[in-house]
Amino acid sequence: PDIIQADYLASAVRQDQYPAIDWPEIAFVGRSNVGKSSLINSLCRRNGLARTSGTPGKTQTLNFYRALVRLNPEDDRRELCLVDLPGYGYARAGQASKKQWGKFIEEYLKKSTRLKLVFQLIDIRHPPMDSDIASYSWLVAHGLPVQIVATKADKLSRSQMQKHLSQICDSLGAAPADIIAHSSLSGAGKAELLKLVIEVAKE
Ligand code: GTP
Ligand code: MG
Repeated sequence: PDIIQADYLASAVRQDQYPAIDWPEIAFVGRSNVGKSSLINSLCRRNGLARTSGTPGKTQTLNFYRALVRLNPEDDRRELCLVDLPGYGYARAGQASKKQWGKFIEEYLKKSTRLKLVFQLIDIRHPPMDSDIASYSWLVAHGLPVQIVATKADKLSRSQMQKHLSQICDSLGAAPADIIAHSSLSGAGKAELLKLVIEVAKE
């Protein structure tokens, strides 16, 4: 099973702009610059599908991508939607724009009836910040299934990685099984994440 095709569908800041599709959705949530757009590109094996940048604040709207999944050698296919969200905690964004972030992201996370899974991304190098803890708790409190992804795993040695992963789990109050380390450079963790994506496509 694999994602065999992926394309850009639509951008939105309001509910009436969401694409009129009924495929299951997976949303990507996390701080600005944590690697949300890069993870979408990595899973879809298409660099440049979602625009990425070294400067935080690149993604400013909800961006919907269509992924076509091949489930088996018999070539059964399913479609699903990957939803790239703007990052939170962007230091240079003013208070007004931070509030704005909360409003339309929360609206989407609360109102989408097709949302099956949320990837909460945390930079593996740093302990979760207050905004990460608040975001994760909010998702759990709203009953959304959350998978934690520790990004940029290539930046740490193997032994450092284990230490940081357990620190992230402790801070979030999550179990070690709830977290997957990923690198969009090395492809580490990608197979495990793809498995989850394919499970959602089967729903
Ligand atoms: P916003 O759209 O601003 O919220 O950011 P984002 O979370 O979408 O981050 P994006 O994917 O644009 O990546 C931010 C920066 O991190 C870029 O310079 C990426 O090249 C880099 N990056 C992303 N993933 C990885 C990774 O796995 N390893 C390394 N070393 N760099 C990464
Ligand atoms: Mg982005």
